[in-house]
Amino acid sequence: MKNNLTRRNFIRTGAMATGGILASKSIQLDAMPYNSQSKKVAPSDKLRFGIIGIGMQGSGLLTGAVTLPGVECVAAADLYDGRHTLAKEITGNPNLFTTRKYQELLDRKDIDCIIAAVPDFWHRKVVVDACNAGKDIYCEKPMSHTIADGFDMVAAAARNNRIVQIGSQRVSSNLCAKAKELYTGGAIGDVEQVEITLGRNDPTGAWEYPPPADLSPKTLDWDTWLYDAPKIPFNKEHFARWRCWKEYGTGVGGDLMVHLVSGMMVTLGWNEAPRSATALGGIFRWKDGRNMPDLHVVLFDYHGVPVYCRLGLGTETPELARFMGPKGIIDAGEFNLRYAPQPGIDLGPSYYASGFPSQMRAEYEKQWYAEHSPKLGKEPIYDETNYRGHDWDDMIPHMWNFFEAVKSRKTVVEDAVFGNHAAIACHMANEAYFRQKTVYWDEASHSVKG
Ligand SMILES: NC(=O)c1ccc[n+]([C@@H]2O[C@H](COP(=O)([O-])OP(=O)(O)OC[C@H]3O[C@@H](n4cnc5c(N)ncnc54)[C@H](O)[C@@H]3O)[C@@H](O)[C@H]2O)c1
Repeated sequence: MKNNLTRRNFIRTGAMATGGILASKSIQLDAMPYNSQSKKVAPSDKLRFGIIGIGMQGSGLLTGAVTLPGVECVAAADLYDGRHTLAKEITGNPNLFTTRKYQELLDRKDIDCIIAAVPDFWHRKVVVDACNAGKDIYCEKPMSHTIADGFDMVAAAARNNRIVQIGSQRVSSNLCAKAKELYTGGAIGDVEQVEITLGRNDPTGAWEYPPPADLSPKTLDWDTWLYDAPKIPFNKEHFARWRCWKEYGTGVGGDLMVHLVSGMMVTLGWNEAPRSATALGGIFRWKDGRNMPDLHVVLFDYHGVPVYCRLGLGTETPELARFMGPKGIIDAGEFNLRYAPQPGIDLGPSYYASGFPSQMRAEYEKQWYAEHSPKLGKEPIYDETNYRGHDWDDMIPHMWNFFEAVKSRKTVVEDAVFGNHAAIACHMANEAYFRQKTVYWDEASHSVKG
């Protein structure tokens, strides 16, 4: 049974019973924290960057980066020649230096920093090589392909004193900043549980991407692309749909959950690996030879706070992070943030009294109203606020944060330590799924125990 919010049932509710509170406010957050076109920068002050990997994500990063003031793309590396053409098209520079060998970018003294958007199993090598070559690097999420990779990358960044920004761009969005402000300000009290969910229902959402038409061992350095994965003959599908296989990718965990986990960590001020993970799932829908689950349900323990995660490629559901506490709910969605406070008290006589004989019930209700009824005209109105923002996944502010850090040497919003913690959650989710048992994080050995 639900409590009815009838006029008679309105009661005094401390801070919420202020009489004049507005209901269902809607607030538009600023689209950008800066005007990307507004600043003129002298050529000598420009940051010069090289990009490694100009595929689906790299092309988006490059398109965004070239709109930023004070930065210039001077070189692009990719193992597939079609992406050299693409980099020239995006930069509008037909003479842009392009190569299959990313080391040539790292060796150049005139390149200040690197943006890397290569498949997950290449992240460690590219980041460690870049740091060792003295380059700061923005590397895509999830930071690592394995837990050991992540710690190698943290060490390389620290050893070389390099700026490493991991590309879970959500953490730079103003929606995420607003969620953090609300939570830190006590909007929902201490969080007691979190739900993070996302569902897709289409082939592209399930990574069944169309391989480029001219892809062949001539246009692609296939042997190098395979790196430390098992050697197999040239395979177009593996190149385009690498997310489907654990040898190259990190599944729905590394592809999708890492964004939700990173946003959750920033909102709640956490920077740690989960204590444990339990998982269920399977390949329910996309039986195309993949070995990564297309449905993955995970229950994490973050220092005692349960975090429930549902990721599926079989039914479309909105992307949502729901933070729940004794004082209400913060719902973070793609373009909006809904804050719904809850009084946490009875709004009417308890329905348990329906089991009292009539006279007892009447006395109970009379007393209840005598103790709880608000003064006439002072009934509270329950407030709910909806913040609408530019995009929960704000790529350009995230890159801007990186370029600013390269210049100022100040810390980035998502450094290697943070990125590693977020990635560990994905690895634990995968370990729990493949081992079919709860796995525990062991900080001393930096490993997962079954
Ligand atoms: N932040 C986001 O929202 C987001 C979105 C999509 C992808 N990503 C991440 O971006 C990364 C790339 O994903 P994608 O979808 O663009 O993949 P993709 O396959 O479309 O592109 C990757 C490119 O990297 C190139 N490459 C691979 N190894 C290389 C090497 N050693 N040297 C030079 N080039 C190399 C490939 O040839 C390919 O062109 C992944 O880690 C993925 O998780 C992030």
